Amino acid sequence: MKHILNRYFTYKNKELFCENVNLKSLAQKYKTPVYVYSKQAITDKINQYKRAFSSYETLICYAVKANPNLSILKIMAENDIGCDIVSGGELYKAKKAGIPSNRIVYAGVGKTDFEIEYAIRENILSFNIESEMELNVIDQIASKLRKKARVSIRVNPDVDPKTHPYISTGMKKSKFGIDIDQAIDVFIKASKLKNIEILGIHCHIGSQIMEIEPYIEAVEKTVKLIDTLKKKGINLTFFDIGGGLGIKYKPEDSPPSPEDFANAILPIVKHTKLKLIVEPGRSMIGEAGVLLTQVIFLKDKKEKHFIIVDTGMNDLVRPAMYNAYHHIVSVEEKDEKIVADIVGPICETGDFLALDREIENVQRGEYLAVMSVGAYGSSMSSNYNVRPRALELLVDNDKVKVIRERETYDYLAMPELIENK
Ligand code: LLP
Repeated sequence: MKHILNRYFTYKNKELFCENVNLKSLAQKYKTPVYVYSKQAITDKINQYKRAFSSYETLICYAVKANPNLSILKIMAENDIGCDIVSGGELYKAKKAGIPSNRIVYAGVGKTDFEIEYAIRENILSFNIESEMELNVIDQIASKLRKKARVSIRVNPDVDPKTHPYISTGMKKSKFGIDIDQAIDVFIKASKLKNIEILGIHCHIGSQIMEIEPYIEAVEKTVKLIDTLKKKGINLTFFDIGGGLGIKYKPEDSPPSPEDFANAILPIVKHTKLKLIVEPGRSMIGEAGVLLTQVIFLKDKKEKHFIIVDTGMNDLVRPAMYNAYHHIVSVEEKDEKIVADIVGPICETGDFLALDREIENVQRGEYLAVMSVGAYGSSMSSNYNVRPRALELLVDNDKVKVIRERETYDYLAMPELIENK
């Protein structure tokens, strides 16, 4: 048995399995492209997070944006995990999956009046507010509804998370949060608003973070601010430290574990006695998913060899958008390797899964598995080129459940109107 990145995806007799299900037979039965998730990988990660933070009162809020499939949110609900949301749509789905309101926190720089009213009516645990104007608008809307809104203020600790610039969020020049040196002022203003209850403080510095040091720096800076606020008579209940822990995309990657994360920050947080919130997205679900795709054509040009597959940037935009690396393997292990660009059918030069990649010498009709796509894979997919979104499957040991149907052409055309004379 040979593991591919983690123990949930293994070759047995040269065929790739997810838990105890053969991926080639899944691809043949359900057709491709298809996302396949290991339930065990998800529940093991949930338990790993719970164990890591078991010595301290902590609410784990899964970042819905990573993968908002209802069945995945239901696994979170069944395991007492809360949610970090960034839109009314995510709130709707979280509630539908059974996440209780008192475990929902709501971040994002651009919440609309409609979304704010919806979240106040749902009585969520906290708005993580990102500007003074947002604070005032929430106060006004809460007043109109004759309710109090609980808020945490998202501070921007100006820490470099050493990750891709598009997913760094905690630096001064980014649009997120309130600069840490202006935060006291905003807390004081918030404390004077009638329809606002200050719940806590929030920070999130970025995503796919592979080192612990940036977290330590951000938490130390925020704890200092918490102490200063206390001296000024502003007492908080929660410290929300965001998400961002990296995952394994390449076999040689070694991201910090939830235990490393907890062990580094708990000693700094302890004396504040605040309850903690953590918001893992990618590290909860990323390694649990693969995307299966079929080789449509092979094409040789003087410069390059191309493997053209039936999935592309509409199903998985990360390579095109961030030049992200996703490990790709053949579902049938082969000894012979070639170097090729693995590209999709979309009419864009940026539509690739991998460039100049050493890969098994696959033939037309054979299948490839794109690894570590559980997070920001299907959730960022689109219908570009009028391509139906992929089917999604959840594997539980030797059982398989469809958790999202493949979209049909009728479904894609449904919301559009043509004038009938
Ligand atoms: N909390 C907040 C406030 C966030 O903005 C995010 C992610 C998370 C938690 C979860 O972070 P995670 O644990 O997943 O790193 N589309 C990009 C990632 C964007 C992340 C945005 N915010 C990608 O595919 O790499």
